[in-house]
Amino acid sequence: MTGLIKMIFGSRNDREVKRLKPFVSQINEFENGLQKLSDDELRAKTAAWKEELAKIEDKDELAQKLDEILPEAFAVVKNACRRLCGQEITVRALPQKWDMVPFDVQLIGGIAQHQGKITEMATGEGKTLVATMPVYLNALTGRGVHVVTVNDYLAARDSEWMGAIYKFLGLTVGVILHDQPPRVRREQYACDITYGTNAEFGFDYLRDNGMATRKEEQVQRGHYFAIVDEVDSILIDEARTPLIISGPSVHTHDEQFAQWKPLVESLVRAQQQLCNRFLTDAEKLIKKLHPEDGSNVQDADALEREIGMLLFRVKTGQPKSEGLMKILENPENAGLMNRAELELHKDQKKVDLYREKEELLFAMDEKSQEADLTEKGRNFVSPKDPDAFVLPDLTTLLHDVDAGAETDARKRLEAKTKLQADFEAKAQKIHAITTLLKAYSLYQVDVEYVIQENKVIIVDQHTGRLMPGRRWSDGLHQAVEAKEGVAIERETQTLATITIQNYFRLYQKLAGMTGTAETEATEFLDIYKLGVVTIPTNKPNIRKDSHDSIYKTKREKFSAVVTEIKELHAKGRPILVGTVSVETSEMLSRMLKREGLIHSVLNAKYHQQEAEIVARAGQRGAVTIATNMAGRGTDIKLGPGVADVGGLHVLGTERHEARRIDRQLRGRCSRQGDPGSSHFFISLEDDLMRLFGSDRIVKMMEKIGFEEGDELKHPWLNRSIQSAQKKVEQHNFQQRKRTLEYDDVMNKHRGVVYDFRNEIINGEDVRDRLMDIMEEVVVEKVLEFTNTDTEHSEWKLRQLADWVNLNFPLGMPEAEILKAAESGKDEPVTGSLFDGLSPAQFAVCNFISEKVRDAYEIKISFENPDALKEVERFTILSAIDRLWQEHLYEMDSLRYSIGLRGYGQRDPLVEYKAEAFKMFDELMVNVKTQICNNIFRSASSMLAFENFLRNVPQQTKHDPASAFGDPPKPDGNQGKASDVVSEAADQLSKDKPKPKRTGPKVGRNDPCPCGSGKKYKQCCGR
Ligand SMILES: Nc1ncnc2c1ncn2[C@@H]1O[C@H](COP(=O)(O)OP(=O)(O)OP(=O)(O)O)[C@@H](O)[C@H]1O
Ligand SMILES: [Mg+2]
Repeated sequence: MTGLIKMIFGSRNDREVKRLKPFVSQINEFENGLQKLSDDELRAKTAAWKEELAKIEDKDELAQKLDEILPEAFAVVKNACRRLCGQEITVRALPQKWDMVPFDVQLIGGIAQHQGKITEMATGEGKTLVATMPVYLNALTGRGVHVVTVNDYLAARDSEWMGAIYKFLGLTVGVILHDQPPRVRREQYACDITYGTNAEFGFDYLRDNGMATRKEEQVQRGHYFAIVDEVDSILIDEARTPLIISGPSVHTHDEQFAQWKPLVESLVRAQQQLCNRFLTDAEKLIKKLHPEDGSNVQDADALEREIGMLLFRVKTGQPKSEGLMKILENPENAGLMNRAELELHKDQKKVDLYREKEELLFAMDEKSQEADLTEKGRNFVSPKDPDAFVLPDLTTLLHDVDAGAETDARKRLEAKTKLQADFEAKAQKIHAITTLLKAYSLYQVDVEYVIQENKVIIVDQHTGRLMPGRRWSDGLHQAVEAKEGVAIERETQTLATITIQNYFRLYQKLAGMTGTAETEATEFLDIYKLGVVTIPTNKPNIRKDSHDSIYKTKREKFSAVVTEIKELHAKGRPILVGTVSVETSEMLSRMLKREGLIHSVLNAKYHQQEAEIVARAGQRGAVTIATNMAGRGTDIKLGPGVADVGGLHVLGTERHEARRIDRQLRGRCSRQGDPGSSHFFISLEDDLMRLFGSDRIVKMMEKIGFEEGDELKHPWLNRSIQSAQKKVEQHNFQQRKRTLEYDDVMNKHRGVVYDFRNEIINGEDVRDRLMDIMEEVVVEKVLEFTNTDTEHSEWKLRQLADWVNLNFPLGMPEAEILKAAESGKDEPVTGSLFDGLSPAQFAVCNFISEKVRDAYEIKISFENPDALKEVERFTILSAIDRLWQEHLYEMDSLRYSIGLRGYGQRDPLVEYKAEAFKMFDELMVNVKTQICNNIFRSASSMLAFENFLRNVPQQTKHDPASAFGDPPKPDGNQGKASDVVSEAADQLSKDKPKPKRTGPKVGRNDPCPCGSGKKYKQCCGR
């Protein structure tokens, strides 16, 4: 910021603060008046306001009313504080005397928060207390106010500490903690005020809207107003990683793979032998085609054809055969093979192609990634019952039931439902075997994947890089694991996810507080529409900030650090040493130990203990080493006599990539007018200096003849370090913004899907909705297989009938559909759902829908009505969830592939949006189709499924923010100092989506990813 702009910014801020001052005198006047009241009279205010506000429904009217009562309501809180003074309250099991009455600056901070702003108030200015006033005021609406903290310890502490005020005034206060069961959570949310961490709030939202199947399971009750403490940490640093709930994939095939592995292995071996024979034959023929004496060959054409066919056969049977590859190195042979393939595909009926395949045990298609058992193969695997691996003709079977002797409609329906279940079980078995065949025939170790530490790791086919943690989808990864004999991991998948940004945008009103917001003001405004107001301190800040000291090497820097610690420690001053990583903390600790200096070390792991250690950091002679994040939010009070020797000294051992974090560390001293000082040490070897800005500095140092061991201090240096930091900040901001632009697309999808879900969860009776959906899908399908203009005889009624019979236990012959079309061709079309349909199509739709309804009536008659209601609800929800989770997956890979594709001049975001739109459209169609598919599943198995879902273990994941201190790194490579800046550079890669799917996308002929066992094009891919 230039000086001029700063002046303007500064003065704008001053004006803002000044504007709030008149409120302060109003509040104080009210408060004077309140002092006369009895405790009960004061409490009565709360009840009266609550009653009055509960009646107001209109948002604006409510806001206006709150503004109106603000001065008096704030005064009530202030007055309650006064009455509490001297009382003992218990905070985190420790007794504490209340001694706080809000200062005027705190009132100002509170007003700004009520207005939906971020208040920047220095450390120790009492932000915890500030928030109580806007919290109280807004909680009077009864709509629930959330106070968001950075960890469970602070949430519990603040809810107990500040709870004294709320309870005194007659409001209820709750706290959400990590290990609470849903019942307890719901009670906490039902309170007027609820404290908790961002992650808990976010996960509850995801569970409520993305996973709960009943209203009673939902715990939150809306998002009215939230005040976020340490707002920069939460909305900026934590916002780097989204909240993710993952759980085991619904479609697991693990057992099947292990079960079929031996069989598939012998199948593959037999096929290898077969193919070797074909290859030997082909080689012989090739020799014959090119006689060594150079003589002419008779029937060269037939010979060539035969060679081509043999080679094609091997390609189909063993695509990765080395022998084949060798032969194909000769382009002439490759040509023969291609010619044969073309010839086989030319024939419409594919008779020859089929015959060729039948020479094999199974046929592979590399392009479409399809594997099929041939008749020979089926006989091989199951000589007694080759049909065990053929999908039956369901339509005929179902029809036979209807045509059979059974007269009881109920029994017939049961029989048909069973046929469908058998069909699916068979489909799953076939899916497992073909997936294994793929794993054996198309995926080679050290080419498509490698084995490391008992894991199958995918090799990126474009870059050759390993991609640990990624998995092929649809059971393929597990099949490869089974093949390699390594542990078969349960498939996990993302069940629900949201970014912190989008979670907090849900709130009608948002506000925040922190010691350090100003440097990120643009981001707060841009992303969250949050303005920043800097509130002056209650007493003037008298902290002395030294210029940075700069050294050539880290070694020199740290020995200077130790020297300063020793000097100040000798004077009895407490020292807080900030480091950027756990590793640096530990290194420094060893150095101090060698010097015989007693000290404590803490990193950001155990919040409660940490809070206690940091709280003691102001005692005489204390030396405390801490990472930046450690103990944030806890108060460092000076011990007796410490102020006389100069107060707390903060010593920074490195500049952080964001200025904000440095300011946070500095702010730990000189709270509330205490004396104190700060000093940062830097070396040219520090990451920030190395990567972002040492050039000019080094040059200048050379000019002035800077030598090893020298120390340099100059205001100019501070400026150039700052500009390096600004560069990184800017870069990171852009990165976060970009990520968010991508996530916004998803966010819209999530909105639609969650609304749909909630409609179903909240609906009393969803049967009508279910039948509507069925009708919509029927219309879609009729449109797909029939045509307004063509003769009925040209309609694809067989396919339509197949679809109907696959989804509903009807056994509807195509002839009946044709009859319906004929008989209805002169009737008028009514109803908006059928717009654009011909009368015949309309008649077909009605015919099918009615039959489905009739069948459903039968089902209703033998179900328990309450259970059926649940089943219906669940039919819809499970379809939504299953496909939505697939969609999350797909969107992830879309983002990744768009990132890889590179679009020349085009903006990848635009491409992404276009494709995402298409995918979402498909999703909604697929959801409805899937719902149809499930309508007739039996109640008991459905409930069992529901129970299963409810009982599957879930994981919630939110990587800790790394801007402060050092979170444990998953690779065990914990806390390298270099992480700080490589993080800046890493940001790029971190913000990239991390797709789970890297295998081939589902081909039209692939088994459907929904696990139905049907081909994709015949299931969700229609
Ligand atoms: N009005 C007040 N009168 C007396 N003491 C106060 C008042 N307000 C706050 N305090 C005291 O100031 C200390 C710091 O308060 P608090 O932890 O809320 O500060 P903070 O602004 O949240 O700091 P941090 O940035 O570290 O989170 C506490 O010990 C608290 O008791
Ligand atoms: Mg605080």
